[in-house]
Amino acid sequence: MILQDKNHNSSPHLPFGDQRTAPWYGKSILSVKQFSDKDLQYIFEVAHEMREMVERVGTFDLLKGKILANLFYEPSTRTASSFTAAMERLGGSVIPINEVKYSSVAKGESLPDTIRSLECYSDVIVLRHPDVGASALAAQYARKPIINAGDGIGEHPTQALLDLFTILEEKGQVDGLSVTLLGDLKFGRTVHSLSRLLSLYNVRLNFIAPEILSMPREIIAELDEAGVPCLELQKLEEVLAETDVLYVTRVQKERFEDVKEYEKVKGTYIISPQTLATAKNDLVLMHPLPRVGEISMELDDDPRAAYFRQMEYGMYVRMALLAMVLGKA
Ligand code: NCD
Repeated sequence: MILQDKNHNSSPHLPFGDQRTAPWYGKSILSVKQFSDKDLQYIFEVAHEMREMVERVGTFDLLKGKILANLFYEPSTRTASSFTAAMERLGGSVIPINEVKYSSVAKGESLPDTIRSLECYSDVIVLRHPDVGASALAAQYARKPIINAGDGIGEHPTQALLDLFTILEEKGQVDGLSVTLLGDLKFGRTVHSLSRLLSLYNVRLNFIAPEILSMPREIIAELDEAGVPCLELQKLEEVLAETDVLYVTRVQKERFEDVKEYEKVKGTYIISPQTLATAKNDLVLMHPLPRVGEISMELDDDPRAAYFRQMEYGMYVRMALLAMVLGKA
């Protein structure tokens, strides 16, 4: 396994080796559309190894000397800190820019210029930005890999990878599952990325949302094209009994132009112990977090509530991705 190699005083000896020819070396991660099912299998194998390593030794020097720039133009708790934890668990370090108002962005600096500056000081840039396509734009200007940590209402590929890893770790497999995505499917970028990734498996998808927050038509069209059986509904009761994974999302207040529209739909779905009374005993209840009332805290001790475990899985997946794009996996 990943143990210190006595003959080399710098890098540990790794199952992954130090291969500059590794397939993901130097690549940006912008959309889940980049991944094949083989890629996913590989990422999850590495993430699983990362989990074992962290459980065994905590921190190790796979990315010693490497620097990550964590550039966040939108708020974040989990994504920013799990990337930081991932980099530090691998022996690397982080330039955190999560208050862009204190950076030159506040002086009007463009995204390409900010990216070109940060890449002088770092080996990889994680970017969260309010505009759809911002990471793809950044990648056009960058020589270093860009990792999309959410581009407005577009995608959130690393979240979708960790969501899928969670399903795998919790259920043992993805094929054959009935997955129900509920909440704000229009503005929620996590469900956009996750449903695209799930289309690589043999799953049934149920989308439950208030009418004005339904899944974007282009994603439904992509899923149809991929032959994924999809149902769009407004009531959870219709599919709850057959659901294996229930993925709940927050109504994304900050994306509404008219706050009155938000007020109308914000409390549409609240998952409580009573809601789950008719659900499967081995249901996996997920949420990308933050929650703002959609899942009652009374469920937190229910073994089906996987959202806190989901956060932890996120660090292992992000460790795997950083190791991959930096040529160490
Ligand atoms: C999500 C996001 O930022 O899209 N959070 C996260 O990354 N864990 C979900 C959300 O903000 O509702």
